Order: sequence, then C-alpha cells, then structure tokens
Amino acid sequence: MINLQVALGNRSYPIYIGSGLISHADLYSPHIKSNQVLLVTNETIAPLYLTSVLNCLHEYNCEQVVLPDGEQFKTLEVVTKVFDKLLSSRFGRNATLIALGGGVIGDMGGFAAACYQRGMPFLQIPTTLLAQVDSSVGGKTGVNHPLGKNMIGAFYQPQCVIADADVLDTLDDRQLSAGLAEVIKYGLIRDAEFFTWLEQNIEALLNRDKQALAFAIERSCINKAEVVSEDETETGIRATLNLGHTFGHAIETGAGYGKYLHGEAVAIGTCQAADLSRRKGWLTDADVERIITLFKKAKLPVNPPEELDAERFLELMSVDKKNSEGKIRLILLEQIGRATLPMKANQDLLEMTLRCYGRK
Ligand code: NAD
Ligand code: GLY
Repeated sequence: MINLQVALGNRSYPIYIGSGLISHADLYSPHIKSNQVLLVTNETIAPLYLTSVLNCLHEYNCEQVVLPDGEQFKTLEVVTKVFDKLLSSRFGRNATLIALGGGVIGDMGGFAAACYQRGMPFLQIPTTLLAQVDSSVGGKTGVNHPLGKNMIGAFYQPQCVIADADVLDTLDDRQLSAGLAEVIKYGLIRDAEFFTWLEQNIEALLNRDKQALAFAIERSCINKAEVVSEDETETGIRATLNLGHTFGHAIETGAGYGKYLHGEAVAIGTCQAADLSRRKGWLTDADVERIITLFKKAKLPVNPPEELDAERFLELMSVDKKNSEGKIRLILLEQIGRATLPMKANQDLLEMTLRCYGRK
C-alpha cells in the first residue's frame, strides 16, 4: 500500500492507495471518532461496493443514504436528503460521514459534512479514476446551481482518502478516459516528465494495466497533494489545477449537466486553452499537436460542441470563480509542464480561439 500525506498542519491527512483497500477495517477505524457513521453513496455503486464497506463497520451504528446517480443530481435539494438522514438518526457533530463514490458523491458528501452542525468528520472512498486522482484530495466540496457549476460549496478536508485501485475494474471505459483527462492535466501544468510518460503509456492505461494505473494514481496524487499543501484555499498556485476548466465548465453547463462527462469537458477545454496559449506565442504548433494527440489517444473529445457558439461560450465563461471585476481569467500554458496563474484573457485572442479552434 502507498501512503501519501497531504500536509496541512493540524488538518493533514493520509491518502492510501492500493489493491483491496475498501475491505481493510483497520484503515477506517483510526479515522472514525464516535460510534455513529453515515455512509453516503449512489444507486450504481451501492450494489457493487456497499456490502464490502459495511463489513468493515460492524462495530458502529451505521446508517446509509443512497442518492440518485448523475451530475444532474449534484444539487442542494439532493444534499438535503443527507441532512434528513443525519437528523432523523439523531447523529451528533462527532458522527463520521463516509462518501463512497465518484466525484459527484465525494463533492456532495463532503459538502454535507462541512455544513452539518457546522462540520463533522468525513472520509473519502473515491471509486472513479477521476475521483482517485483529483476530486477526493484537497477538500473542495460543493454542488451545482442551474446558473453555474460548483457555485455553492466549501473548502473542507477529509480525515483520509482510501483509493482502492481494484474498484476501477467495474468502471466503464468512457469513465476511465474521463479520469485520464485530469491525469494528463498534472503533466501539463507542472510535470513534463509525467506528460512524456503518459505519451508512452497511454495504451497500457487504457488496457487497465494495474502497474501503470497505480503509477498514474500515485504520481497524480503526489502532484495534487503538493499543490494543495502550498495553497489550500486557492489564493495562488492551486488555480493552475483548473487548466481548461473555465472552458470545460461552460461546456458542461451549456450542454446541460450530464451530457458531457466532467473529464470530457476538461479535455476539450484544455485543448482550447492550449490553442489560446499558442496564439499568445507560448506553445508551438508542435506542442499543441502533442496535447491534442494525447487526449485523442486517451479516447477523449477534443473539439467544442457545435451548438455552443463563441457568444454563448463567453456568456457562460463569465460565471466562473476565477473571474474578477467582470473579466474572464484563465490558466494558460507557458510550455508543456508549466502553467500560468489565472490571467485576464486577451479578448481578441480568446474570441479567435472560440471562433476558430475545432470549428468546421
Ligand atoms: P461521477 O461521480 O458521476 O461518477 C461517474 C459514474 O461512474 C457514475 O455513474 C457513478 O455512479 C459511476 N461509478 C463510480 N464508481 C464506479 C465504479 N467503481 N464502478 C462502476 N461505476 C462507477 O463522476 P466523476 O467523474 O467521478 O466526478 C465528476 C465530478 O467531480 C464533477 O461533479 C466534478 O465537478 C467533480 N470534481 C471535483 C473536484 C474537486 O476538487 N472537488 C475535482 C474534479 C472534479
Ligand atoms: N480540481 C481542482 C482543485 O482541486 O483545486
């Protein structure tokens, strides 16, 4: 088992990565503070993994909430079901919430934990590649609003992250590829050597080679933990983790939540950010080609949806947490392996990217 640390002073916590971890009772117990435990999962994951987790929790008074599955259910209304269960079970603020699922369950479970009685401990058990390499680490929690993605939320760190690579066996290929989008992101923003490794090993990852997957999860989590430890609440460098996300969130919101997977929208958005970085004179044509080729090899889309024209993109991108004084701010690439901090977009170049990149 790999044991990484997210170093955040008295809020530090371990990320456990390995095989079969969800069935190890001794991983849970040091992180559970009272005998009250609420397991939050969804209707797809429950039949697959709920029993394995419950088997580790015999000694606790364990309740469950099984939420509907899908990004469209990542709402305040659905989170209320978690509060209903906590209150009707008379759970106190020392009860522990366990979020078992992908990024949607992790974000909603974490948000419920942040709010319930102003904060209860919670554990992340990420079950998608995307959640194992990104969303379960770092304490960003929240829900969507019809006017903008992840607009309601809190920074709230888990007690630990248990990333069991074996649960990825039941993940479908489209979801695996979506996770690879966030893996590729780390290579692009701060780890050129990892980007090259990904170019060489993308087939092995798609074929679910266990060693390759374990390496990619570990290297991604090391990158994420370093960034979060340096800038927990995104006053600086953490924003680089949002490469491609301003375009991507616009695609997710504009197309309707659930049509594009988050990772798919990020892949397209990252190609748009790369195109804009080339127009700024930073990336070469060859760099942009390398980036697009890797996303394509990872079986991810690289062109924006035709129905979202430049005007609609601009409208949607104007609702973003990185924006300030009404100006769109973006993360761009100075080179493969080095991202900028959020910078005001040059309107003419941005419009050129939105009108030209990936359009017929
Ligand atoms: P998801 O949570 O919707 O999971 C994808 C699908 O896979 C769902 O249908 C789910 O039920 C199913 N699933 C999950 N685990 C499975 C398994 N082991 N076997 C079979 N099916 C399984 O999507 P996601 O890609 O994990 O997460 C996307 C969400 O994460 C978005 O809402 C995004 O905004 C958020 N996110 C948050 C952060 C953060 O820092 N908090 C970072 C990146 C993304
Ligand atoms: N996924 C972006 C972040 O955690 O900051």
